[in-house]
Amino acid sequence: MVEKFKKKIKNICCIGGGYVGGPTMAVIADNCPDINVTVVDKNVERIKSWNDGDLTKLPVFEPGLEEIIKRVRNKNLFFSSDVDINISKADIIFLSVNTPTKTKGIGSGQASDLTWIEACARQVADAAKGHTIVVEKSTIPVRTAETVKKILESNNKDNSFSVLSNPEFLAEGTAINDLEMPDRILIGGEDHVAIELLSDIYRKWVDETKILKTNIWSSELSKLIANAFLAQRVSSINSVSAICEVTGANVQEVSKAVGFDSRIGNKFLNPGPGFGGSCFKKDILNLIYLCNYYGLSEVAKYWEQVININNWQQDRIYKTVVDKLFGTVYKKKIIILGFSFKANTNDTRESTSISISKNLINEGAHLLIHDPKVSSKQIAKDLEKEPLTENSNSAEVNNYGTWEYITNLENAFINVDAVIVLTDWKVYRNLDWNEISNQIRPPAWVFDTRLILNKNKIISSNLNYWGLGIG
Ligand code: UDX
Ligand code: ADP
Repeated sequence: MVEKFKKKIKNICCIGGGYVGGPTMAVIADNCPDINVTVVDKNVERIKSWNDGDLTKLPVFEPGLEEIIKRVRNKNLFFSSDVDINISKADIIFLSVNTPTKTKGIGSGQASDLTWIEACARQVADAAKGHTIVVEKSTIPVRTAETVKKILESNNKDNSFSVLSNPEFLAEGTAINDLEMPDRILIGGEDHVAIELLSDIYRKWVDETKILKTNIWSSELSKLIANAFLAQRVSSINSVSAICEVTGANVQEVSKAVGFDSRIGNKFLNPGPGFGGSCFKKDILNLIYLCNYYGLSEVAKYWEQVININNWQQDRIYKTVVDKLFGTVYKKKIIILGFSFKANTNDTRESTSISISKNLINEGAHLLIHDPKVSSKQIAKDLEKEPLTENSNSAEVNNYGTWEYITNLENAFINVDAVIVLTDWKVYRNLDWNEISNQIRPPAWVFDTRLILNKNKIISSNLNYWGLGIG
């Protein structure tokens, strides 16, 4: 019989060093100097970047992350590609691997692909020693804990496990702040000793009243529902942006007036080109799959509409651009400002810039794409198309629909027909529209899908302005 619990957690292993695993473990290590935290990832390149002496090369960009890494890396926070050894040393293991939407087979396009979670659970079952607490951190469909448990318990080794669900609610771009001052910590499970040991970690910096304990299924479902509610708010205000445009109302004024109602609240009511990011769409699709699985087709249809509005919003923005440019963008130069799915992150997963750029390229436009943190390589991967460079030959330059990566906005607007703001990066707020109007090809348009630009300055610079939701 395996000795069940150590009195104190000494070693943590986190499997998966991505946008969730990396920042979360950095904050745990920073707050728990007496615990050794090791992040393991099978992606050797990613681990190399986490260990890079040049902190600007960390694989994840998050404000405040570099400072924490500087403080704790190689003290009590380690990054390694030796997965098995670190599993064997751990008292507690966080599963923080990717769970994308399935693209083939049963549940394709809706259900989460649990290939990585399953592979991970098998590896833990094989390599763990003694009694180990296994914590689900990845966003996963409800009842995944059951799968993880079954895999862990089916091995014949002299080890045992307690499985807990502890979903992460951080938002990218504010991850460090969200981790240091969370609204709540949610822990689901049956094993009370394991729950207390995990709570002990968070108690080091989170108030006891914010640590919620539930059964494992409530915890898993709460994560999906929190994301579904947030996404629903974004789709709601985006649907309102369209009504404002046709009625002459102003969506910012409506959003403010509605948000002043304390029952509704003023957060998450900013209209935009649609929600992006790795979680919202995936989680709602998961919820829809779950509803259909249990025969709740009306409930499934209700949530489907949140995604439909999101797709429609991206579509109508690209169509508005084409329409304003006299129905054709062929060979027209258009500047795309922002490629990440929101400001302060280098993540482009489900970014609305991808679909809008692809559609404009498909119409024959020449895009000049700028983003403070997203690389040209990443954009090429997302658009499935290489950029034009100084070395491009004339055949490439004359292609139907092209794009170029720009890093400097000075003199970038020469002969440009349109500027589209898609990501709310701060640097775009204070552009010199007077100077830009000297460079562009009139009659040029400025499309602000985030409502971060100064409309009056744009109009007084003799540029045409279109603001999302401004009637
Ligand atoms: C989200 C949840 O907020 C977080 O709790 C969960 O853990 C993961 O999913 P994230 O996707 O990182 O976080 O960012 P979030 O700030 O929620 O933004 C998601 C998308 O909605 C972005 O594209 C953002 O621009 C958009 N959005 C958000 C709006 O368009 N308007 C808003 O008012 C808020
Ligand atoms: P998230 O946004 O949820 O953090 P990411 O895709 O950024 O998702 O990160 C997940 C990480 O998990 C990736 O770096 C991937 O290489 C890693 N990973 C997936 N499966 C395994 C596994 N079995 N062992 C180790 N690492 C894994």
